[in-house]
This record gives sequence, C-alpha cells and structure tokens, in this order.
Amino acid sequence: MTMPKIHRKVRMGMVGGGEGAFIGALHRMAAALDGRIELVCGAFSQSMDNTLRTGASLGLQEPRLYASYEEMIISEASRSPDERMEFVAIVTPNHLHIPIAKLAISHGFHVMSDKPAGISLSEVNAFADQLAKTDALYGLTHTYLGYPMVWQARAIVRKGTLGPLRKVYVEYPQGWLASNLEADGAKQAVWRTDPARAGLSGCMGDIGSHAHSLVEFITGDRMSQLAAYLNTHIDGRRLDDDGAVQFRMEGGATGTLIASQVCAGEENALKIRIYGEDGGLEWHQMEPNTLVERAANGPVQLHRAGADKSLDKEALARCRLPSGHPEGYIEAFANLYRDFAACIRAGERGSARGVPGIKEAMRGMAFLVAVVESDRNGHRWIDLLGPAENITVRTMA
Ligand SMILES: NC(=O)c1ccc[n+]([C@@H]2O[C@H](COP(=O)([O-])OP(=O)(O)OC[C@H]3O[C@@H](n4cnc5c(N)ncnc54)[C@H](O)[C@@H]3O)[C@@H](O)[C@H]2O)c1
Repeated sequence: MTMPKIHRKVRMGMVGGGEGAFIGALHRMAAALDGRIELVCGAFSQSMDNTLRTGASLGLQEPRLYASYEEMIISEASRSPDERMEFVAIVTPNHLHIPIAKLAISHGFHVMSDKPAGISLSEVNAFADQLAKTDALYGLTHTYLGYPMVWQARAIVRKGTLGPLRKVYVEYPQGWLASNLEADGAKQAVWRTDPARAGLSGCMGDIGSHAHSLVEFITGDRMSQLAAYLNTHIDGRRLDDDGAVQFRMEGGATGTLIASQVCAGEENALKIRIYGEDGGLEWHQMEPNTLVERAANGPVQLHRAGADKSLDKEALARCRLPSGHPEGYIEAFANLYRDFAACIRAGERGSARGVPGIKEAMRGMAFLVAVVESDRNGHRWIDLLGPAENITVRTMA
C-alpha cells in the first residue's frame, strides 16, 4: 500500500491576541479546527511579558516570540522557506491592520486580517495597489460570511426564487457598551471608542461593517446610495455607539441598516431579512443553523444546516456536523481559514475563493466613509460610485 501524499500544514504567525484579548484566541481555535494550519510564531501584545506568557501557553518556543510585529516579519523572512511563517493573522485594534499587512506582503507573506480593513479609505486603496503587485493573498475575517446558511441565502437569491429584490432589513444590536466601560479601563472598550485606534466610526466600524458585508454578499448587489444618522448615547464618548442607514442598491432594492452597542441586555443579535417580488428570506446569527424562506403565496420553508442534501453545494461544503448538533461561530470562522489555507497551498494570489478579500475591504471602508460623510452633512444622501477598485464617495447635489 502506498502512503498518500502528506499534507503540509500552513504555517501561521499572529499579531495581537495576547492574554486578555478577545478575538485572537477564537482565530487560533478556528485556524486549528481542520488540522490544516499550525501557529508557529507570534507578537501577541505590545508587552513582551504578555507575548512570552501567551506563547508559552500555546507551546511556542522563545525564538519565535517577538517584541514587535516589525521584528516578527523581518526575522521570519530570514528563516528558511520550509520553516518561516506563510501568513500572518492580524487581530490587533484597527489602526494597525494596514501597517502590519503592508509590511507583511512586502516581505512575501500572505495576510488574514480582522475587520474593518483599516482606518481610512486612502490607506486601504493604497494597500490594494501594493497587493496587486505581489503574489500575496489577502483575506478579511467577516466571520458571518463563513456560515452555511448565509451561503444558502445567497444561492437562493442567485437562483431568482425571490424575484427581483425590493427590500433589505439588516439589524445588529448589541448591549455591551450600554455603560461607560471605557472610563473603567475595559480593554476592548478603550480602543473602540478612541478615533486614533478605531478609525472614523465606532459602532458602524465595529459591527455596522459586518452588516454591510452581509447585505452585499447575500444579495450579490452593491449599495449605491445611502443616508445615515449616527448617535452617541454615553456622555464623553468620542465615537458613535449607535446608528441607522437608509440605502439603495444598484439593482433597485432599498433597505435599512441599524447597528447599536447600547441596547442594554442585548447579546449579538445580528439579523437580516431580504424580500423580493415573490418571497423573502430571514437569518439570525444567534440561531445560525436555520434559514427561513417565505413565498408570496405558499408555505414557509425552513432550511437547516446539517444533513439536508438539497442545500446548495456551497452551503453543504460549509456544514460540518450531523443535523441537530449546533455549529456556529468557531466553525464559520474555521470555514474562512480552511479556504484561505487551501488557496495558499494552491498558489493563488490576490483574494482567496470563499473568503472576503480586498474588494470587500475597499467596499467596507467606502461604506464607513459614506456613513460618516452623510451624518456630518445633514444626513444628505451620498453616492457610492464605481467598482470596488475605483470607488468614489460623493455627496449628492
Ligand atoms: N470578526 C469578528 O467577528 C470580530 C470580533 C471581534 C473583534 N474583531 C476585530 O478584531 C480586532 C481585535 O479586537 P479585540 O476585541 O480582540 O481587541 P482586544 O483589545 O481584545 O485585543 C487586541 C490585541 O492586540 C494587541 N496589540 C495591540 N497593539 C499591538 C502591537 N503593536 N503589537 C502586537 N499586539 C498588539 C493587544 O495587546 C491585544 O492582545 C479588531 O480589529 C476588531 O474589530 C472582529
């Protein structure tokens, strides 16, 4: 019997995600889930003590633990090709995403970055230009785009079952910033309410960006115009903690996006509803294995992740467990990592199939710029013109 070709794990480095951080540990779990990726190095924190403690707890040796991301990228690039990291996962506050990504691709590494892509459209556009001149892959972890039922919703829209789309309602209420957590020094709240580290928007950048990406992904259409209201409910808070956006899609649908982090007691209640002339869809992040499909003159159907072989093949490819066994956030995250690792091994460049990439990064930033522009200019309608590669944001006359 001949031994099948042994799969070589893709080697990952991580910036951010040290002891006390929120999302880094989830990235590590997701990356590890399929046995296709191994963590080989990290600059987990600005504090070397933290990086050493985090690295030791993860079984990493001291030579692969670095005091800064610059040192990590430069040192790793000098290691032999079969030893050095192959991609870097960026799980720091937003202002560092692009500087780390730029340095990484200039040293030959791929990048998996958390969202939003950066803190300004110009830096993301400049990064996109740089990326196009390299062989690097870039992925953006809009986690919700890894759920099977989100892919099923997209497939149903593509099939035309709903008819021409008319309405999109997406809402993302959370409650964790309902009090002045930043005044108490809560790590995640402190940087998210600081414009220098979070970027031009607070709540819209943090979670409105997920809602925007979900709308464009499921509909396969782009927001072309929007008008926005941003609010700050906590005295002294420097960025929005709540907001609403009216929008129009290129294909003619209209919609409303609301995002809030001050809905006391609320958890992570992302929900999207889409209606066409012939029917509609509804998906809730907190019940992610069910997709509701409504027909204008017919029964309501429930699509369920699991063993239903009639699901679209892209949705099926993202189901991992037998019917009735809950799967969710980590598995959705892992779907993005699995696709990213496969594209690295396949030698692809630019964007990885199945993973939000640089186009989604630019559109997400353009959405945030337009939201802030509209809010600051009397809630005027703003045009989001052109393809992702050349998008301009213009206040309508
Ligand atoms: N995809 C999602 O669903 C999701 C969910 C939560 C957060 N996020 C994103 O993940 C990122 C991190 O968010 P978080 O809540 O984990 O923040 P956090 O504050 O909990 O963690 C940030 C980490 O970055 C580290 N860090 C900061 N500066 C550094 C530097 N110069 N070098 C190395 N490490 C550094 C901190 O020490 C900390 O470990 C943000 O961009 C956020 O928008 C995404």
